Amino acid sequence: MPLHYWIETSGCQMNERDSETLAGICEALGMRPCAVPEQADVAILNTCAVREKPQQRVVSRLGDLNKLRTDRPGMILVVAGCVAQIAAEELAERHADIIVGPRCYDEFEQALREQLPGGVMVEGDARPVAEGLPVARNDTLKAFVNIIYGCNNYCSYCIVPYARGREQSRLPEDIVAEIEQVVCAGARDVTLLGQNVNSYGQDLPGDTDFPAILRMADAVEGLDRLRFTTSHPKDMTPDLIQTMAELPSACEHLHLPIQAGADHVLKVMGRGYTYEHFRSLVQAAREAIPGLAITTDVMVGFPGESKAEFDQTLRAFEELRFDQAFMFKYNDRPGTRAEKMNPKTPNDEKQRRLLALVALQNEIARDINRDLVGQSFEVLVEERDHKSAGYMRGRTRTNKRMIFPGDDSMIGEMVTVRADEAFLWGFTTKHSPREDADAEA
Ligand code: SAH
Ligand code: SF4
Ligand code: F3S
Repeated sequence: MPLHYWIETSGCQMNERDSETLAGICEALGMRPCAVPEQADVAILNTCAVREKPQQRVVSRLGDLNKLRTDRPGMILVVAGCVAQIAAEELAERHADIIVGPRCYDEFEQALREQLPGGVMVEGDARPVAEGLPVARNDTLKAFVNIIYGCNNYCSYCIVPYARGREQSRLPEDIVAEIEQVVCAGARDVTLLGQNVNSYGQDLPGDTDFPAILRMADAVEGLDRLRFTTSHPKDMTPDLIQTMAELPSACEHLHLPIQAGADHVLKVMGRGYTYEHFRSLVQAAREAIPGLAITTDVMVGFPGESKAEFDQTLRAFEELRFDQAFMFKYNDRPGTRAEKMNPKTPNDEKQRRLLALVALQNEIARDINRDLVGQSFEVLVEERDHKSAGYMRGRTRTNKRMIFPGDDSMIGEMVTVRADEAFLWGFTTKHSPREDADAEA
């Protein structure tokens, strides 16, 4: 009987990609995946520390897994990811066997082999991330490829630079090799990952910058869709917008986190841009790239954010009309500059602001999609829609969801589908792609 591993992933796409490395390492040791922790010999929590809740959840998940150990005494508990990097001691006290930070996955195999009861800690932010670790990908059609690890920006509220260390760009040849590999294995949609992709290459000799990497990726034979996240507004250049506009594979989707609408708040957040600058980027990108969808991240209730400053965020959302937004209440993170900033916004006020912003944004997103009803979109068919029989789901180049009639034989194909009805997250239609193609012929 092979041993089984189970992984639960929280946090961003970097963690999703890292979980594929953790899985790859387990499989290289002969293990098989399992769907529930009750069957696992190795249970891995790949954790996120960006806000308080997911971090607290790690502690309670670890408690649940420890209870399972009464029946499975040999089970190994692993905590990986950002919480492992910033709270290793606490995790060890809570009986995690292996605690491994995001830059140290090359040591995970050795730690697993040793299976040391009592805990192995592998952390260290100064060390470089290793190349060439095994990977077991979750998805064949869509793949994540890291281009730069870590972050040097130290926005005043953010834990990421502490959890992921300083910026380290991967070599262009390693990036291109990984893209070629995933495309060869069937990927049609590739997302390049970094906390600030615009910093790519600054730590490398030579002058390969982020637009250059996009051009190299676009040149890979067989790649249909190229995406990237995250682009920091302070470092976004006209060259990047131009490159996105020119490259056939570059999708019409830009994730550009605004964080706040008021200049004073942006300043104390340490973001390095003004609202006016952000607005000019949105405008330039929309002018250069027809049909562009723009998504964002935003926080409400930053320490000292006044009612009037929050209203500026509302007005920014009204003016810029994002296709989607990830909206958060500000959270204190240990050791950050904002943790020491005052006055704190009370939780009920943060909640009120969040609800007001969510209501506004949902209305905008629905309106935007409603205006697109009747248009046809290229859709990459991903999977069966589990809610309605006879329907498939996929995504447009703008990263909106499309639910349409079809069957499994379409998985992995690009089809053209006309949108019938709009929702917050995309469209549904009764038109089957084939009928649609006939109609257009
Ligand atoms: N590198 C990305 C952000 C990664 S973290 C960027 O610079 O945009 C993802 C999002 O989590 C952030 O954009 C921010 O909106 C939110 N976030 C980060 N720290 C937070 C905190 N302390 N409280 C609440 N939200 C936070
Ligand atoms: Fe955090 Fe700022 Fe770095 Fe993004 S750019 S990861 S928000 S420090
Ligand atoms: Fe979370 Fe770490 Fe990503 S803190 S958002 S998993 S970089």
